[in-house]
Amino acid sequence: MRSIAITNQKGGVAKTTTTVNLGACLAQKGKRVLLVDLDPQGNMSSWFGLDIHNLTRSMYNVFLEEVYFEEVLVKTCVENLTLAPSNVALAGVERIFAHEKGRDLILRKRLHPAVDKYDYVLLDCPPSLGLITVNALTFVKEVFIPLETKVLALNGLVTLINTVQVVKERLNHSLEVAGIIACRFDSRTNLSNEVYNQIKERFKEKVFNSIVRENTRLAECPISGKPITLYAPDSPGAVDYKNLAEEVVERENLLKESRK
Ligand SMILES: Nc1ncnc2c1ncn2[C@@H]1O[C@H](COP(=O)(O)OP(=O)(O)O)[C@@H](O)[C@H]1O
Ligand SMILES: [Mg+2]
Repeated sequence: MRSIAITNQKGGVAKTTTTVNLGACLAQKGKRVLLVDLDPQGNMSSWFGLDIHNLTRSMYNVFLEEVYFEEVLVKTCVENLTLAPSNVALAGVERIFAHEKGRDLILRKRLHPAVDKYDYVLLDCPPSLGLITVNALTFVKEVFIPLETKVLALNGLVTLINTVQVVKERLNHSLEVAGIIACRFDSRTNLSNEVYNQIKERFKEKVFNSIVRENTRLAECPISGKPITLYAPDSPGAVDYKNLAEEVVERENLLKESRK
């Protein structure tokens, strides 16, 4: 099982778009994939057609230990792709657990017994580095960082990588930034190329070779209730996320090889 947090404290960088579409592409390759919505905005849950204002069970109840994690899971329109939904209630856990001992370990405790049967667990994180994100980082082994290549955001990236380092030292020794994903790439602008070259120079092989181009089909996709591979299978967005999934799996094979 590979556990991956899709994180960036900046909003609008394609965290949710990447979690949904990478997850769907992996599932369509036959992997058993679990998506966990950890953003109180519930964008990923809405994407799959859930009425997030009327969820009877969600990740909020899992944090509060009112239900088992398995009880919140729902099937999606994609085979092999399961979702743990969230809504605005989740924002409450930041306050409820603010002074609680062991508050960074809640998600790990709740998820561990339930996730072995998946090949991939992908966590869509909120746009902050608060308690929920730290809980995600304490549970996973890998962090993927989507970057919007239309803006220079290396300062934010440094802050994020420092946070990952702190969590690694204090709470989760196996944590690694395993991949940086160049998203919303606009080849018509010099800026996108410049940002890509800069991050490649700085972070080298951590940067995926697959680039996700700016594509209106991807922006339309959430309203369709489907991932891009079902909504617009021939679009550049579908091609880019399939390539990314391919590369993610290749890295898994490299990891296995190196352990032999
Ligand atoms: N490659 C892309 N091309 C066009 N629009 C995109 C692309 N990736 C994301 N978007 C759009 O950008 C906005 C922010 O993406 P989202 O995945 O919600 O970001 P985050 O989860 O980081 O806040 C959304 O409206 C989404 O549809
Ligand atoms: Mg989001």
